[in-house]
Amino acid sequence: MTTALITGATAGIGAAFARRLGSQGHNLVLVARDTERLQRQATELHDRHGIEAEVLTADLATEEGIAAVERRLVDRREPVDLLVNNAGFGNKGRYLEVPMADELTMLKVHCEAVLRLTSAAAESMRERGRGGVVNVASVAAFVPRGTYGASKAWVVQFTQGAARDLAGSGVRLMALCPGLVRTEFHQRAGMGMDNVPGWMWLDADKLAEEALADLARGKTLSVPDTRYKVLMGVVKLTPRALLGGITSRTGRKYGPR
Ligand SMILES: NC(=O)c1ccc[n+]([C@@H]2O[C@H](COP(=O)([O-])OP(=O)(O)OC[C@H]3O[C@@H](n4cnc5c(N)ncnc54)[C@H](OP(=O)(O)O)[C@@H]3O)[C@@H](O)[C@H]2O)c1
Repeated sequence: MTTALITGATAGIGAAFARRLGSQGHNLVLVARDTERLQRQATELHDRHGIEAEVLTADLATEEGIAAVERRLVDRREPVDLLVNNAGFGNKGRYLEVPMADELTMLKVHCEAVLRLTSAAAESMRERGRGGVVNVASVAAFVPRGTYGASKAWVVQFTQGAARDLAGSGVRLMALCPGLVRTEFHQRAGMGMDNVPGWMWLDADKLAEEALADLARGKTLSVPDTRYKVLMGVVKLTPRALLGGITSRTGRKYGPR
């Protein structure tokens, strides 16, 4: 039996990964800050699928939180075969409206934690000659859109570069770039999303299924769903200056308020 560790496992995309991997018979290590919610989820997944679901409470915006998950990932007695770096959040407000402390917390959770956890996992996976890492980025990685987009662009560049360096080692790395997904994300960030057209919303369970299929195919970049594959094709062909204007206007319409 293999073990998957998922950060941000209690809600949204992370919870969908936990459901999908649990239903496939993988044991789970569930990471987030809310211990009670983690425990409820672990019990439910254990009862439904007969798997072991371990709870690891950690705040990935802190040194202790990151170090605790690193320790779990390098534990040779209970190896982790798949890491899903998913924990993340949005900040309310545009550049210079967001307090610097919040910008730095975002970089800690989206970049430092992803770098350190990927490295801890990949090192021990390489020793065993197998394993996988999914780093959850966003389609926001491909448009000029504040610290959030920049942090996700880092996730994509880092993951694809590391995947190239580890080619042939048996360790697969993939950046996952979802479009809009119905989760707690926008509500937590105080974003008004009422005007977003229905067709733009993705389902978290389908997203997790497609992402795991892409990982199995050996992809290093996954943009689930035809709608967003087409949109990203258009983005690639659009001049960057024009793109900046469009994303800024879209941000004003749908963004934090
Ligand atoms: N929803 C979208 O439209 C969308 C689109 C593209 C990419 N994404 C990315 O997908 C990932 C998951 O987002 P989501 O939409 O599923 O959001 P969500 O529903 O708000 O879930 C976020 C999860 O991350 C955990 N988390 C947040 N901060 C944390 C921290 N400091 N330490 C540990 N865990 C933390 C939360 O649990 P606790 O609060 O208990 O810690 C929760 O389990 C994020 O990286 C996000 O940027 C989302």
